[in-house]
Amino acid sequence: MDKKITQLIEEHGTPLFILDHEKIRNNYHTFKEHLPRVQCYYALKANSTQGIIETLFKEGSSFDVASYNEFMQVYKYLKTFNSMEKKQYVWDKIIFSNTIKDRTTLEKIKQYKPLVTFDNSEEIKKIAKFCSTAGLILRLKVPDIGSQVELNSKFGADVSDAVPLIKEAHESGLTVEGLSFHVGSQCTNFDNYSKALTIAARIFKAARVHGYDKMKLLDIGGGFPVPYDAFTPEFEKLAVLITSEITRLFPEDIEILAEPGRFMVATAASLVTEIIGKARRDGKIFYYINDGVYHTFSAVVFDHWIPNFKAFKKGDHEVCAVVGPTCDSFDRITLSADLPNNLEIGDYLYTENIGAYSTASSTKFNGFTGAKIVHINM
Ligand SMILES: Cc1ncc(COP(=O)(O)O)c(C=O)c1O
Repeated sequence: MDKKITQLIEEHGTPLFILDHEKIRNNYHTFKEHLPRVQCYYALKANSTQGIIETLFKEGSSFDVASYNEFMQVYKYLKTFNSMEKKQYVWDKIIFSNTIKDRTTLEKIKQYKPLVTFDNSEEIKKIAKFCSTAGLILRLKVPDIGSQVELNSKFGADVSDAVPLIKEAHESGLTVEGLSFHVGSQCTNFDNYSKALTIAARIFKAARVHGYDKMKLLDIGGGFPVPYDAFTPEFEKLAVLITSEITRLFPEDIEILAEPGRFMVATAASLVTEIIGKARRDGKIFYYINDGVYHTFSAVVFDHWIPNFKAFKKGDHEVCAVVGPTCDSFDRITLSADLPNNLEIGDYLYTENIGAYSTASSTKFNGFTGAKIVHINM
């Protein structure tokens, strides 16, 4: 086992979520190097650990928030830099990218003149009544075929509704500043991006024909794929496609933003867990570990993610089950991990690429508190 990991385990115990800030910085620079025209609004929902916000802000990132709490988490941090007086500063640094916001949230964020997304008529009425200071971004429904997590059954205006919604927003005294879409998370089918950009360009043109020629923002959402395995198509190729399509379809004065979540943080964390029980059931070894699907492995349920377990100890491999510590039989992380069969109680397993949608959706079920987060290379 790596000496550094042994030290960290000795110091902090397990389960231990090791978050490497050097990797976060590298991911950010890869993104910016290949998509230089695109401003990154890191989607906090992937992992809202404060240290990530601070690391990304220092590199130049802005932020996508989904709730009042996330909004204030970012706003309070930004405020420590005393730059919030600048009128457009909130827009430059925060987008409230949840198309449905409750009334209280709208009332509370009104004073900050936020930039918010919407995709339906009821939301326009709500924003006009409770947060008339907001700038609006219309989220479009686009194809998300093959993405690990689809989003467009719940969000996004149909193409045919787009111009009427822009008109309705303006008639309510609001201004639609631009368009957004999300092609689904972990999008490995790059065609989704081409189609989404084509749809957005059509709506920009149609809106202009109807006299709405002030729209200046295009938000291309998240979805940028993480190399969880060797079959994931390369981000660099996607970036070439996006850049050429944007150049072909949009005027130069359109500002482009994106809301990558997973891409920034997934590869930046590893989890060390401990085997707390071992049994053979119907011939198969079951390793019981001290973290599970209600906690750091929540991505198995919500994110349709398949973790890859590794052991520090060597031995003959066989197909094993790895299950969590709670009293629920649903708490099965995998029934097909390829692991040594000689692991014992007290041995450790580790899982890489677990930085996104993991601690973010961890619960306190059964009284287990989940993994301790430790920061390295901050
Ligand atoms: C509105 C919005 N923006 C951004 C993201 C981040 O997406 P990803 O992690 O795929 O980059 C999501 C994910 O669900 C989202 O719903």
